[in-house]
Amino acid sequence: MYYPWWYVPGLTAPMLIAFVAVVHVFVSHYAVGGGILIALENRFAVKTNDKPYRDYWYKHAKFFVLLTVAFGAITGVGIWWTIALASPLATETLIRTFVFGWAIEWVFFVIEIVSAFIMYYFWFQLKPKTHVIISVIYAISAWISLVLITGITAFMLDSRGLFANWSDTGNFWHAFFNVQFLPQTFARTGGAVLLAALYVFVHAAWVLGDDGKLLERVVRRMTFPIIFGVITMFIGILASFILLPESVHRAMERAVLINVLVVIFVGTCVIMLLLMFFGPVLRPRSISAGFAVSLLIFGLIALATAEFVREAARKPWIVDQIVLGSQVYKDEIEELRMTGFLRDSEWQKVSSNKIERGGMIFMYHCNNCHALERGMSAIKPLLSGENDKKFLKNKIRLLNKPIISMPPWTGTEEEIDDLAEFLLTINKKTEI
Ligand code: HEC
Repeated sequence: MYYPWWYVPGLTAPMLIAFVAVVHVFVSHYAVGGGILIALENRFAVKTNDKPYRDYWYKHAKFFVLLTVAFGAITGVGIWWTIALASPLATETLIRTFVFGWAIEWVFFVIEIVSAFIMYYFWFQLKPKTHVIISVIYAISAWISLVLITGITAFMLDSRGLFANWSDTGNFWHAFFNVQFLPQTFARTGGAVLLAALYVFVHAAWVLGDDGKLLERVVRRMTFPIIFGVITMFIGILASFILLPESVHRAMERAVLINVLVVIFVGTCVIMLLLMFFGPVLRPRSISAGFAVSLLIFGLIALATAEFVREAARKPWIVDQIVLGSQVYKDEIEELRMTGFLRDSEWQKVSSNKIERGGMIFMYHCNNCHALERGMSAIKPLLSGENDKKFLKNKIRLLNKPIISMPPWTGTEEEIDDLAEFLLTINKKTEI
């Protein structure tokens, strides 16, 4: 094989990506939304000559820069670490397809970091007008990073371009001329503004606790961004959901967990709107820290569920129509059925022992979605003690037939036999 496998007991490696990605989303969306809010509110405070309000945003900027720069960098690199280990082939494909995308992304990232530091460290030294311009530069560069990454995640979900005469193997432009691109950009921008305004609520309730008047002003100013954020995110995700490829829809219908997550997403959006309506909209006064924290928790749950659904919905693909969850390119399936799935490589010599070979096939071909004995979609309970080898072989041969979220079987008849032997040994193992 081209790369080694990564066995993460119980959880499976892609789930680890999902966890790191969700933590990263909490910070990266704040980095974008916070930039937009700081730019707008800074401009407002300078225009209205409202010194206490501008001073509050200075305090917020300190919290913001510390959290987004330090934590965002750690979790951002964390994503590369997990995806490169869990899905090396998909990572390779994304690097190759978007080589200039990453370069552009990096340039904007540098602009983002430099303007964030200038904004924070020279808050009072720069002329207010110049300072507002720096905060706007930060906001725009952060938002452009969001747009670039959204193109790439849209491509992973649906790699077809918008134009029918384009070939269906994706290229750079398929990411941005893609049905998923606009709705996802909409959803992420809304989610970013929402999350940032919720962090502002918590931060303000925490640091302005004794200054009811200023806190009330912050609450009034943040009410619109929160409601705008929830509604924009919701509309974006709804549109993205409707526009998913037909095969993804069919796969999702069968997946109970995904349906539960969708319900949780809708529920948390409704709860946030209700809390805002019966709280700050009807009675605009200062809020308690408890209220701010509960709103934030609902916001985080909404974002996390949306992200999880996006990650889970792609099965059997890692990159739509290009790389499968079985760590192979779609284009090489036919060939591998003739030549065999396992190939010697510098990582891995193919064993001469049948069961060991079966285990290797499992690790490459199945381990991305199934844990072994217990855990995420574990194979042992799924097979519920089946010990009829013929039955198992048939299941492997027709892997994606009843369940379209599984990749097609990609190997020789002999390899089917090896994998079936391995599964029999897993089934025979009794719990201690
Ligand atoms: C891209 C993800 C993915 C890969 C890779 C994958 N599966 Fe699955 N498999 C699923 C999903 C989704 C289900 C649906 C049931 C569940 O997991 O809860 C499933 C269900 C199953 C079931 C139970 C349903 C049935 O028909 O009995 C078996 C057995 C199974 N897979 C075996 C395998 C084997 C063996 C491999 C490797 C050759 C494999 N799977 C690779 C996603 C995958």
